[in-house]
Amino acid sequence: MKFFVDTADTDAIAELNNLGMVDGVTTNPSLIMKSGRDIKEVTKQICEMVDGPVSAETVALDAEGMIAEGRELAKIADNITIKVPLTWDGLKACKVLTGEGRMVNVTLCFSANQALLAAKAGATFISPFIGRLDDLNIDGLDLIADIREIYDNYGFETNILAASIRTANHMSECAKIGADVATAPPNVIKAMANHVLTDKGLDAFLKDWASTGQKIL
Ligand code: E4P
Repeated sequence: MKFFVDTADTDAIAELNNLGMVDGVTTNPSLIMKSGRDIKEVTKQICEMVDGPVSAETVALDAEGMIAEGRELAKIADNITIKVPLTWDGLKACKVLTGEGRMVNVTLCFSANQALLAAKAGATFISPFIGRLDDLNIDGLDLIADIREIYDNYGFETNILAASIRTANHMSECAKIGADVATAPPNVIKAMANHVLTDKGLDAFLKDWASTGQKIL
């Protein structure tokens, strides 16, 4: 499973990228707002840092506007992925933009039917939002499994990009289901390293080591 980082925080991206943990980046209007930076300027910097796809989201509501914005965003760098919402107009824009050879990430997906339509429209990525479904007491991971099954049934090449990931558990469950990509905030990726038994074991080793009076260096 590929790891994308869901942030426009370039310091956080750099830290994970240096560890080889970044296969791509996703941003959205809320993350750009949080960065406090200009969308083109920060996205360009991210594209220079990361080799993989970098999603930049359109904000128009009509297909024509999304296509125009998508073409403009694509000028930033070759690894830009244009993000459009899963609306009827978003699907129209997806078809046109992928037809021009551009990568398109169809976002705000909350049902298997929506994912099926995105695949038919030629989406490069479909972004089902796990955490926002969990918030409504609907198991977001079930949606990832349903989409995996449907795409595999018919050999759709659209990549399942599990999004709205809130916990380290979401990451391992997505990997078990077979999501192609998971995009997560930096703190969630770092939390994957945590285990209470690791901390407990380390504590015991250090106490025993101290009692030996030895030094390695
Ligand atoms: C995906 O591309 C979105 O940017 C993101 O995963 C949304 O996550 P949230 O529900 O935590 O805002």
